[in-house]
Amino acid sequence: MFVNSWFSFFASQAPEPLPLEEILEPFPPARTISFTIRTAQGYDLLNLAEILADSFHDRAGFTGLIFPLLRLGIYEDLRNRLRSSPPHYACLVAVAEQPVEQEELIGTIELALKLPPPWQFRPPHYPYISNLAVKKIYRRQGAAMQLLAACERLVMVWGFEDLYLHVLENNYEARRLYLKAGYQLQGVEHSWWSWLLGQPKRLFLHKHLQPSG
Ligand SMILES: CC(C)(COP(=O)(O)OP(=O)(O)OC[C@H]1O[C@@H](n2cnc3c(N)ncnc32)[C@H](O)[C@@H]1OP(=O)(O)O)[C@@H](O)C(=O)NCCC(=O)NCCS
Repeated sequence: MFVNSWFSFFASQAPEPLPLEEILEPFPPARTISFTIRTAQGYDLLNLAEILADSFHDRAGFTGLIFPLLRLGIYEDLRNRLRSSPPHYACLVAVAEQPVEQEELIGTIELALKLPPPWQFRPPHYPYISNLAVKKIYRRQGAAMQLLAACERLVMVWGFEDLYLHVLENNYEARRLYLKAGYQLQGVEHSWWSWLLGQPKRLFLHKHLQPSG
């Protein structure tokens, strides 16, 4: 009884709660960043290598020890691809929209025409996506979807209507992304590593592009 009356006293003194919109207004909504997509340039290489190494390799344990080497390998490979710039090759980057001198690179993707191994029943050349990665602090803000969409536009300009990529079966974040972007499973690839060491299998995904308009 005593407790109840104290409770009702404080309840009657408590100010009316503010509407939720007012409470949340000072905090920016999660998806505030706006960015543009452009082709990668030589001066992006260091940042690109950093994003890719961070996205595909663990900084802990043994890989942490050889992390600088892995990053250097990525840097060199990418530098060679950008330099040789084969026809039907593109490395795209997403950059946070700020004045150019401060622009921040937040994600990347590569697109190329791939030649299938002779034993696989695939088109002679097919557009293939690789090395999609977004800087950790900028994830879940739509950058990967934008990079994929940019590749799709490019593929149609090149005169193709299908796009392919691989994803590891245990990469659930990326699998959800590709599902959302409209990719479908084309095949599951087993390797010696997956048989012998229980390594994740590679899923081969495909999207048929619909020209708009
Ligand atoms: C996979 C990756 C590229 C996604 O980049 P991103 O910019 O965060 O993706 P988006 O913001 O465009 O996400 C689009 C959709 O993908 C799915 N998705 C992306 N990240 C997810 C996560 N961590 N958990 C669950 N779903 C996720 C969601 O459906 C999301 O839509 P929603 O945010 O409206 O729910 C990023 O996590 C990454 O760089 N990972 C490491 C590298 C990698 O695995 N690359 C793919 C190799 S095949």
